[in-house]
Amino acid sequence: MPIERNLPATDTSLPVLGVLISGRGSNLRALMTAIDEGRLRARIGVVISNRPDAAGLAHASSAGVPAVVIDHKAFGGRADFEDALVARLGEAGVQVVCLAGFMRILSPVFLERFGGPVLNVHPSLLPSFVGVDAQRQAWEHGVKVAGVTVHLVTPELDAGPIVAQAAVPVLDDDTPETLAARILVEEHRIYPAAVALVAAGGWRIEGRRFVRGR
Ligand code: GRF
Repeated sequence: MPIERNLPATDTSLPVLGVLISGRGSNLRALMTAIDEGRLRARIGVVISNRPDAAGLAHASSAGVPAVVIDHKAFGGRADFEDALVARLGEAGVQVVCLAGFMRILSPVFLERFGGPVLNVHPSLLPSFVGVDAQRQAWEHGVKVAGVTVHLVTPELDAGPIVAQAAVPVLDDDTPETLAARILVEEHRIYPAAVALVAAGGWRIEGRRFVRGR
C-alpha cells in the first residue's frame, strides 16, 4: 500500500537521501524496497530526473516520494542545471546523493557545493570498463568474471573510492543482455547495502580506499 510505504518518510531522525535518475529506475526501486524492509535506515527526500519521460518517476510518485523533473535541456548550460539540482537537494534536506542510472556527469563544482557523499552504482568491476555500456564492454572483452561497483563520486569518471563490489560469472552463451540482467540482480542487492553503510557514517577515506571505522 503506498501509504504504508511512505511511513519511513515521516521519521525526521533518519538520514535523507536524494536519488538522481534518468531512466527505468530499478535501482531506485531497490532502494525504496530496502527502506520498506528495514534494511536501509534512511528516507528518500526527493527523486530528481533530468528526463521528463523517466519511468522511475512513476515508481517514486506511487510510493508517495516527492519526484521532480529538472530537465537539463531547459538550462543554458551545465552550471545553471547543477545550480537547480543543488537548490532542490537543499530544499529537501538531502544528506546523501544516490545516482541511480543518472546519465549526466556532475562537475567538481556540483560536488563541492553539495558537499556530502555522492554515490554511484556502475555495472562493472571498476576500474575495468568505465563509462557507458559497461556490460557490453566486458562481454566484448571476453572477461570470465564481471560485476558491479558502488563507489563515491569524484570529479574523475567512475574512479572514486570503492564502497562495495560483487562479481558474477560470464557464461559462454551469454549475450550483453543476459550478462546485464545477471549484474542487475547484484546491483539491486549491493546498492542498498552500500548506501546504508555510507548513510550510517563511521567510515573514512584513506588515499583511494573507503575504510570502515572512524
Ligand atoms: C544500471 O545498470 C546502473 O548500474 C547504471 O545505470 C543502470 C540504471 O538502471 N549506472 P536503473 O535505471 O536503475 O534500472
